[in-house]
Formats: sequence, C-alpha cells, structure tokens
Amino acid sequence: MFETLSKAPGDKILALMGEYAADPRPTKIDLGVGVYKDEKGVTPVMSAVRKAEQRILEAEKTKTYLGIAGNKGFGAAVLDLALADSVDRARVRIAQAPGGTGSLWVLMQLINRAKPGATVWVSDPTWPNHNPIAENSGLKVEKYPYFDADSRGLKFPEMLAALDKLGKDDVVLLHGCCHNPTGANLTNAQWDQVAASLAKTGALPFIDLAYLGFGDGLLEDAYGTRKVIASVPEALIAFSGSKNFGLYRERIGAAILIARDAAQADIANSQLLNIIRGAYSQPPDHGAEIIRVILEDKDLRAEWEAELNQMRGRMIALREKLAEAIRQRSNSKDFDFIAAHRGMFSLLGLPNDVVEHLKAANGVYMIGDSRINVAGIPEDRVGDLAEAMLSAIK
Ligand code: LMR
Repeated sequence: MFETLSKAPGDKILALMGEYAADPRPTKIDLGVGVYKDEKGVTPVMSAVRKAEQRILEAEKTKTYLGIAGNKGFGAAVLDLALADSVDRARVRIAQAPGGTGSLWVLMQLINRAKPGATVWVSDPTWPNHNPIAENSGLKVEKYPYFDADSRGLKFPEMLAALDKLGKDDVVLLHGCCHNPTGANLTNAQWDQVAASLAKTGALPFIDLAYLGFGDGLLEDAYGTRKVIASVPEALIAFSGSKNFGLYRERIGAAILIARDAAQADIANSQLLNIIRGAYSQPPDHGAEIIRVILEDKDLRAEWEAELNQMRGRMIALREKLAEAIRQRSNSKDFDFIAAHRGMFSLLGLPNDVVEHLKAANGVYMIGDSRINVAGIPEDRVGDLAEAMLSAIK
C-alpha cells in the first residue's frame, strides 16, 4: 500500500534542530527552534516545576483516567490565568490538549465541523505549522497583511483593511502575543481596533496563545486576548504551557471555546469532546497536573512568576545587547528593531543566501526565513554574532 505515497515535506524548524545537533563545531550558535535557553545554553526545568513534580510523586494515589477534557483543576487555573474575568464563564468551555499544536488541531477540527471548508486567515507570515494543521483539518488558508519587511514593524492599516472585509464565515487566526516568527506585535490601541473590526464583521477570532508571559508580562500579554473575547460573541483560543512553564516535551496545552451562551457552549463542547475521543481519547496528565499544582499554590505560583519574569528579562536584555552591538559596529540603527520586538523571536529580514552563509561560514543557525530565537544568543558572544551578521550582509 505504501507505494501510493510520495515523500512528505520535512518541517523546516525541526529539521534545523537536527542539522545543528550534527554540526561538530564548538563555536556554533543555535538561534533556531523556539525553546528558551539560560545563560549556559541549557533549556532548564523550572524550579517551580521540579517542586510540583516532587509533590505529585508523593501525593498521587492513582493513574486512573481523568476524562476527555482532562485535568479539571488545570482547566480552571488556565482560564483564571489567561482570561481572568474578561468573559462570563458560563459561555466558556476548556479541554486540555497535547500542547499548543494539539489544541490548535482539535479546534481546527471543530471549525470544520461547524463550517466545513471554512477559510482561516493567518498573518503574513505566520508559524509554519499553522497551515498544515488547518489544511489537514479540511480548512482553507488565506493570508492577511501583517509584517512590513522594510520597517520590521507592522503593516497595521493594511491588516485592518483586510480584516474589515471579512465576514461571519471567516476565521481569523491571531497571535495573542509574542508573534511567531516576526516578534512584531500589536499595541493595545491596535488590539482595540482589531477587536472592534471582529465585532463588526462577525469573523471568528481564533487566538494562538503560546507565549503568554514572554513579551511584556503575564497581564500585559493577555491584553489582546481579553479585549477580543470581551468584544465578540464567539471565539477560540489555543493555549500552550510549553514555553511559559518550560514543559515542551510534556505536550501540555488547552483548547478553549467561547460561545454566545451556555446552551451553545454545551453543544460546541460536546463536538469538541467527540473530536478528542475519536483522536486520542484523553490527554496525558503529567504536564497539566504540574501546572495545576503551581497555579493553585501561592508560593509555587510566586516562584514560577519570578522565574518567568527572569526569563523574559533575559530575552529583553539579549535583544538590547545585540541591537547595541550591531549599532556600534555598523554605525547604523538598521537592526534597532530587534530591541523593539518582543517575545522569543525576531524576523531579521535577511535573504536566504545570507542565512545559509551564516550557517556554513559561522555556524550560526537560524530558520531559513531569518527568524532568530533571541534566547539562543550566547551572552558572551554577542559581539561575534553581530560581526558575523554584518559581514554576511556586506
Ligand atoms: C517554534 O516555532 O520554533 C516552536 O513553536 C517549536 C515548534 O514546534 O515549531
């Protein structure tokens, strides 16, 4: 049967991880896959996570099933964290899912049940996995203008004009904060305008909330999500705990739906649970239980927030250092946008041959579209990196 298959394209982000691992040069620099790294270049287990795991190990009495929606305490804690009181909870349902990707996937399936073949509008550019998740779910993908390659900021008027033309059968995928891959984000005033546009057109907002707390702070990063859901009758949110809890391999996320009223929420939720049961039956618990334990305990939560603040502060400091190192060496402000961007990534706007040259000549690995993971910048080699970049673009 397999003779009917042809080779599927590889994933460019995960393929680069393999290439980097195989590179023997000790001076190589990994700015590729989006995982946080500390000053030693290690992706740490957060100390609040480790303590929560110890508590779980001691307290857990059973491994019996938890049900299709997963860990209920986790669900309630995530709603408090992400939505607070921005929407009447009677209209909200949440199901734990395997990572942000699993959450996106079950919600895309739900969209296709509600409106088969609907169009999902994604930012230009967007995280490359958005497209296959939507297409594998039977949906169409179109782009709305987003990133301005000249300023490395936003094409906001063009974005808003495109959103204003959509209708109630369209879905708009928005990055709740820390845009991936660009690092260029909406201001609060721009979120207000996007929310007003969605309220006017009736297009369904679908928010990918994978980096809450990595931009300007937990509260600040939730502004757009809360504003949008407070403005519209229906919305979807894919939450991830991979980055802000450092739980990448535990695959922990949540699919959140907001309906017009409680009765519609129950119906949509029954479809969501039916999708999950028919896919993987129930989500794995470990990551959810860790997050529940942390968020429900005052001290652990404070410890987690302090660690998250420290990680965010380090990424902002690295942004500033790299921008400054380039400014000093080039006498130009051309890369100052790196310091203005927020989240884990910046899209540098370099052509692919420059990206390839940096990899071959300097062992500097970034995604082919020139996305860098700022957490991967080695603090003691910011000058080397700046020099390599400037010499590659000459
Ligand atoms: C990334 O964008 O690098 C991360 O979200 C990891 C992934 O799965 O692509």
